[in-house]
Amino acid sequence: MENTENTPKKVMLSGIQPSGDLHLGNYLGAIKNWAERAEQYDCFYFMADMHTITVRQNPADLRRRTVEQLAQYIACGLDPERNTLFIQSHVHQHAELGWILNCYTMFGELSRMTQFKDKAARHQENVNGGLFTYPCLMAADILLYQPDYVPVGEDQKQHVELTRNIVQRFNGIYGEVFKMPEPFIPKAGARVMGLSAPDTKMSKSVPEGCVFLMEPEEDIRRKFKRAVTDSDTERCVHYDPERKPGVSNLMTIYSAVTGRSYDEIEKEFEGQGYGVFKPAVGEAVIETLRPIREETRRLLKDKAYLESVYRAGAEKASYVAEKTLRKVYKKIGFVQR
Ligand code: TRP
Repeated sequence: MENTENTPKKVMLSGIQPSGDLHLGNYLGAIKNWAERAEQYDCFYFMADMHTITVRQNPADLRRRTVEQLAQYIACGLDPERNTLFIQSHVHQHAELGWILNCYTMFGELSRMTQFKDKAARHQENVNGGLFTYPCLMAADILLYQPDYVPVGEDQKQHVELTRNIVQRFNGIYGEVFKMPEPFIPKAGARVMGLSAPDTKMSKSVPEGCVFLMEPEEDIRRKFKRAVTDSDTERCVHYDPERKPGVSNLMTIYSAVTGRSYDEIEKEFEGQGYGVFKPAVGEAVIETLRPIREETRRLLKDKAYLESVYRAGAEKASYVAEKTLRKVYKKIGFVQR
């Protein structure tokens, strides 16, 4: 009989770019779900600082946001003893495997990436090589750890698909070097839309519709009061993402922070208008974010602790990454040192 104690856990890996302050969409759509998985999976989470410089950054801001993001991961419930938390640039194997995978990815494939097309259009003054080959670095991030699952949002699915194509090509030439990863799009993970424009994902680039984890409570309150609702005549709290995208988005948020179902929410606000519902969602969000914000502040004062976390994380990550990289070097014909 199989001894479950000795069966290795499945591996999961994901990263977020420290290109902006973390917001409610990052929390409810990703990090909150990550925190619940340590029991079942061997998890790696990193700050994708190397990806961030594909768009020009202010160095001091990048440094601050990278450490702040680590503090927020921990404050959101990711226990560094049970998850490997690290900074991408601390693990040099990412850059090394990234280069190699560049040579196994076609110009045509990279040209089809919708995120490249979007970002190139938005940053026309800086359409650099890194922006174009970014999916190869992302493939390296993933493949170094041989994960079973890669939790990502819809917008990153195409990059995971490309990673799968690279695996197929590479393994086709050299044998089973990389494990085939699967994108993991959790059913429970809320897809949070912008408060000011509920037809697009909540994003830091639309700050008036975006609730940041570290934002003052008055600002959060105001953003929810001003949240765009729908112009239908019934004006009742009812879940219908097609016809009532604004209210449905607020219901998704309220459901994620209170654990109540859509049915329960509809009952709770029966006979009441949006003027009651919107501030109620704001207050529930404020209650959820308060302990996270306080814990983040506390952690940010303890620089020595945060340093010890990212050092230990880089060490654990490097150990795993190096094993994969050695194998790759050998297979492709590099002389062993
Ligand atoms: N590209 C992802 C994003 O912009 C971040 C990322 C980088 C990532 N490397 C990754 C996500 C590896 C999952 C796995 O959101």
